[in-house]
Amino acid sequence: MLEPRNTLQLDLFNLEEPFDSGVATERSSLEARYQPLMREDLRLGKLVTYVSNKSEPVFGWFRYKEGFSRYLVDHILKKEWQLTQEHLVFDPFAGCGTTLLACQYMGYPALGIDIMPIAIFIAKVKLAHFAYDIPALEEATEQLLSREYTPTGKSWPKVQIVDLAFSREVQDKLLFYRDRIQEFDDHLVRDFLMLALLASVEEASATSKDGQFLRIVDRPPKALEFVLAANLNRMLGDLRSERLGTTQLEEKAKAIISLGDARRLPGELSVHQGRVSGVVTSPPYLNRYDYSRTYALELCLMYGEDGNPCVRDFDDLKSLRHSLLRSHIESKPAPTNLVQVPAIREVLNALRLKRLNNARIPIMIEGYFEDMNLVLEGLSRMLMPGGRVALVVANARFEGEMVPTDLILSEIAASHGLETTEIRITRYKGNSSQQMGRYGRVPVRESIVFWQKSRS
Ligand SMILES: C[S@@+](CC[C@H](N)C(=O)[O-])C[C@H]1O[C@@H](n2cnc3c(N)ncnc32)[C@H](O)[C@@H]1O
Repeated sequence: MLEPRNTLQLDLFNLEEPFDSGVATERSSLEARYQPLMREDLRLGKLVTYVSNKSEPVFGWFRYKEGFSRYLVDHILKKEWQLTQEHLVFDPFAGCGTTLLACQYMGYPALGIDIMPIAIFIAKVKLAHFAYDIPALEEATEQLLSREYTPTGKSWPKVQIVDLAFSREVQDKLLFYRDRIQEFDDHLVRDFLMLALLASVEEASATSKDGQFLRIVDRPPKALEFVLAANLNRMLGDLRSERLGTTQLEEKAKAIISLGDARRLPGELSVHQGRVSGVVTSPPYLNRYDYSRTYALELCLMYGEDGNPCVRDFDDLKSLRHSLLRSHIESKPAPTNLVQVPAIREVLNALRLKRLNNARIPIMIEGYFEDMNLVLEGLSRMLMPGGRVALVVANARFEGEMVPTDLILSEIAASHGLETTEIRITRYKGNSSQQMGRYGRVPVRESIVFWQKSRS
């Protein structure tokens, strides 16, 4: 289905084929072809967001707003697929570890990767919930909170948002707590305390994680000491109540997360190739959101796995930005026009006739599907024959042009031996007021796409 063609990205703006805007023939025929596989289940709408995790013990330790609900994972693996506990689960966009943690609680072995160091850190700390020594954490918490603040004389990486987000005093207090946390010998204690500190960043700042960027908001930040104490108490409370309900403290099933790129699966995963029974995942959406901006403050504060600051300067942040899946405007590298799904070309042709508020939108769209092509190729390799995928994704609309991401990805999946068994529509998202004003209101689908690898 996908014929590789070696034309350059410039081809985008200099198409040989004639184009007609406004006529969505390819997209209409895709819609018609997949219509029999579409089913609405709007009750699942609540589960494709992070909201229900917020109040969940352990799952709610850090508000990773792009996550989905643990109950979605429970529902799919147990109710829909009825997987038994020897089955291996994989999540190539593991985020804050919802799929992995849900698997750990249910007893499924699970593997995951993510490219963002902050996501890996959050997931690791949560996945270790069974291993913490509560009295040691209580003592460390008390010690940390009773330390009297003294200026550190250190500074944050030179990243503009930092000065907009915090007063100089709060910036320094965050560094003070980070340094005190580093003084604890036990790495589990350090990580636990550090997660609480990272989870305090947003509330102690004048920022809010919504929309495409980290927004500066006009509300007074909360006192850092107060937010940190509240987070630590909540986390400790979760551990205490969990222990009350458990007779034997042990990891029920191995759930492992590591840093990696879903487009080029890390070599250490090759031993699991052909062994995965189920994938429950959600890639970045084609919506221009840039995770390296949303989590810039936390990335600037945290240390990486090598014990060095994760981000030392703006260039580090930029190279992380460029390493992400190409779902945002500053994506690199430029597309190579390798994925040939007619509906993509139709969207690009239609956009050529419009005044875009950002000229890089077509480049992003093309890059996104090229990246997802690599991801789906890798996923297919990981799956055993008959293995299944549930992928949560939303469609997108630019200047009135609908991009049926769920269907285009299904076309790409088919070229890697993944057959679409269902498109479960969970929500309809609204449009920006600008788009509605100009192009009318057209609901944008958010779906769970179900694929199955052929058995032969
Ligand atoms: C929608 S979020 C997944 C959230 C996850 N389901 C959860 O509940 O936390 C998408 C994730 O993809 C990650 N990501 C972006 N580009 C990636 C890449 N090339 N390889 C692996 N992960 C990537 C982002 O860091 C983000 O955590």
